[in-house]
Amino acid sequence: MDHGFPAREESRLLHELSEFLSIPSVSTLPEHAGDCRRAAQWLVDQLFTLGCPTVQLIEGDGHPVVWGESPHVEGAPTLLIYGHYDVQPPDPLDEWHTPPFTPSIRDGQLYARGAIDDKGQVFCLLKAYEAVRDADGKPPINVRFLFEGEEECGGQVVFDLLEAEPERTHADAVLVADMSYFAPGWPAVYTALRGMCYAELHVRTLARDLHSGSYGGVAPNAIETLIRMLTDLKGRSGKIRIPKLYKSVIPPTKAERKGWRALPFDEAAYLEHEVTGKALTGLEQFSVFERTWALPTFEIHGIKGGFVGEGAKTVIPAAAMAKISLRLVPGLSLDFVRKQLDKAVAEVAPAYAEWEVRFVHGNDPVQIEVEAPQFALLDRAFEEVVGRRTVAVRAGGSIPIVPKLGMTGAPVLLTGIGLPDDGLHSPNEKLDLQQLWDGIRVFGRFFEMMAE
Ligand code: BES
Ligand code: MN
Ligand code: MN
Repeated sequence: MDHGFPAREESRLLHELSEFLSIPSVSTLPEHAGDCRRAAQWLVDQLFTLGCPTVQLIEGDGHPVVWGESPHVEGAPTLLIYGHYDVQPPDPLDEWHTPPFTPSIRDGQLYARGAIDDKGQVFCLLKAYEAVRDADGKPPINVRFLFEGEEECGGQVVFDLLEAEPERTHADAVLVADMSYFAPGWPAVYTALRGMCYAELHVRTLARDLHSGSYGGVAPNAIETLIRMLTDLKGRSGKIRIPKLYKSVIPPTKAERKGWRALPFDEAAYLEHEVTGKALTGLEQFSVFERTWALPTFEIHGIKGGFVGEGAKTVIPAAAMAKISLRLVPGLSLDFVRKQLDKAVAEVAPAYAEWEVRFVHGNDPVQIEVEAPQFALLDRAFEEVVGRRTVAVRAGGSIPIVPKLGMTGAPVLLTGIGLPDDGLHSPNEKLDLQQLWDGIRVFGRFFEMMAE
């Protein structure tokens, strides 16, 4: 297929991207702090190579932020580009066909942790800028690059920076490429991101572990108690039993629902190929789009307690802990949900248990208007390159800093080059290389159109 890149250029780009993807910048694991710094430094070097007169590695209480300002173009608009260089942990390692930090190409797909989320997309934007600058012999617009290293772990560095220096977000538009097409051939813009409330639920029922023979039948078991509390918090129907939760949700508009009904969607294929399960769960009376985009969730991410080693140990555990999170939708602020979660846990906890909800991190949901003229430009760019305008969808996931990026009123364009089966956060995460080549051209055209 003719994608418009000479073979030598293609191999240079793949070589550079592989270098970036080889750095295990796992932000949540302290032992990778040095790798996060190396990934940040890699971006610093790229920005210098792009000729940015201002490039900064900004320190804070965590992994550094990378900031760059492109060579000034008098009279041209300014675009703020946001992305993240950190990645999720790669486990379970034995499910990867090739190692997560040894990028490998098979069948036109580049496999690596971070290939699509978000290093591959950050790379796509950098190379789009480079490509139009070289093709036109001059930079098209003014770009402010903002890359953080704590998107995946709920870090504060970029929040602290923008709180201290909100003027960094001054721009005519904000572009975030950390998302996916709705389906192959169907580019998307996003009108909402869910927020999040991540917490640990700690339960203690005894001063110490006990013999399960001597005391079994009378002693309160911490794991059992925790599980009962969890299943009280979310029932079999999928309904979350947190007071005033659903009442506070702002439902999608009629127009939004109508748009969603027009999207090409095969629920059986979605179940088999994306969800990879045998049945969908959750509130049956709502569509998949409503359940994943417009309703809150309650998920259990891990449970700790008791004996899980080889063999058998007959013990009644004294303590247990669950990592849980709620996804928040418009109408549900983080502050409100934290308070309501505390109340709900107090209600389901038996009198004999000591418990604590330890908040870990969270952020508000965000809704985005897609009426500004820059959205029409993005549509035209996609139409020229891939033959279709964007469809307006919502995201089930979160990007915590997004509400702050739009605080000065600049339109926030949330889009991306991912495909639904890229497996972000999963083993064998990948980037479809055709999506990369197309993406470089789409964003390049978008920059040129902004300049006109
Ligand atoms: N790129 C994702 C957000 C995303 C996910 C967008 C799915 C569209 C569809 C982002 O890197 C991410 O994973 N965010 C985390 C944030 C959390 C740790 C606060 C998420 O959503 O779990
Ligand atoms: Mn991401
Ligand atoms: Mn992610």
